[in-house]
Amino acid sequence: MANSKIPIYQPFLGAEEQKLVAECMDSTWISSQGKFINSFEQEVGKYTGAKHAIAVSNGTVAIHLAMLALDIGEGDEVITTNFTYVASTNAILYVGAHPVFVDVDSESWNIDTNKITEKITSKTKAILYTNIYGCPSEYNELKRIAKEHGVFLIEDAAESFGASYHGKMSGVLGDVSTFSFFGNKTITTGEGGMVLTPHDELNKKIRKLKNQGNSETRRYYHDVLGYNYRMTNIQAAIGLGQLGKLEEILGLKRVLQNNYEKALSDVLTFQKLPEHSTSSYWMCSVLFNSIDEKLKIESALNSANIETRPFFTPIDELPFYDEVEDCPNAKRISALGLNLPSYPGLQFEQQEQIIEIIKNNIK
Ligand SMILES: Cc1ncc(COP(=O)(O)O)c(C=O)c1O
Repeated sequence: MANSKIPIYQPFLGAEEQKLVAECMDSTWISSQGKFINSFEQEVGKYTGAKHAIAVSNGTVAIHLAMLALDIGEGDEVITTNFTYVASTNAILYVGAHPVFVDVDSESWNIDTNKITEKITSKTKAILYTNIYGCPSEYNELKRIAKEHGVFLIEDAAESFGASYHGKMSGVLGDVSTFSFFGNKTITTGEGGMVLTPHDELNKKIRKLKNQGNSETRRYYHDVLGYNYRMTNIQAAIGLGQLGKLEEILGLKRVLQNNYEKALSDVLTFQKLPEHSTSSYWMCSVLFNSIDEKLKIESALNSANIETRPFFTPIDELPFYDEVEDCPNAKRISALGLNLPSYPGLQFEQQEQIIEIIKNNIK
């Protein structure tokens, strides 16, 4: 009989989420009003230290709202990395701005802060950076550059909920930061996201934009072009249940990462964290030594019913983006990388099996 499948990810759900969702059903507050939305925003704000936390329907619209709130649009340039999830960069196109790609650092796989300044022009409005696979970016340097050149900093923290940099939580390391709560994220709400900002004016603007541009003084009057980017009470209920087990989730993922690193760091390359930082270890990610080696091991794992995930394709290689040729690190990392199963419920024996297959095929 074939082994049961080991998926790349599985949300860590339980009785608490069920109870809170049932409360929504019983109370009939299932749409985007209800007590759990405020509580979820407050709890995420408390956990991260963010002054304002605004729940939205997913992580993609969270970045779209960041762009809109900062008035980024036609004719503006946004500096970003091309080794990220497509949604991140798409938000730049949604508002008609132009993404300017900077290569990633060869060790952290995050935007290379040494290569940003040369790409800044009079049209640059913001730097949008991603904490890839949960690893914090070099925020101190990003902040310095942003301040020096008078541009906004947007933190795409979709993958780094629970990570920290120099004692600050991911989610407060930008003029605007965004989370995703998709099913495979550190905590999930099914689909869902959050926008976080220290700025009172941006908070007001984002709340208005996510809610059809509703006037604060006149009902059913909309004084700006808005959107329905609201989170539901059911999503927020799941999120609150998840927050209750956040430390457990992070702890289990840390153990998985440590096991992988202990067993494989002699033969494979792992992402390097900046100093004084912790990762959310969203998805365990390794670089193989050659494409042939990666393909061989990927195939061996898949044959054993173990799911893997290819790394993101560099954004400029997608057909609707302009080609750029100066991001060799992104191209190399994308070609050699693979995500391994790293969900909190993965059993020790299952991880041992994954490690053994990798070791046996690497010789
Ligand atoms: C880096 C990054 N940005 C943005 C997103 C978009 O989030 P969502 O899928 O919730 O729209 C994701 C989600 O996978 C992501 O990994």
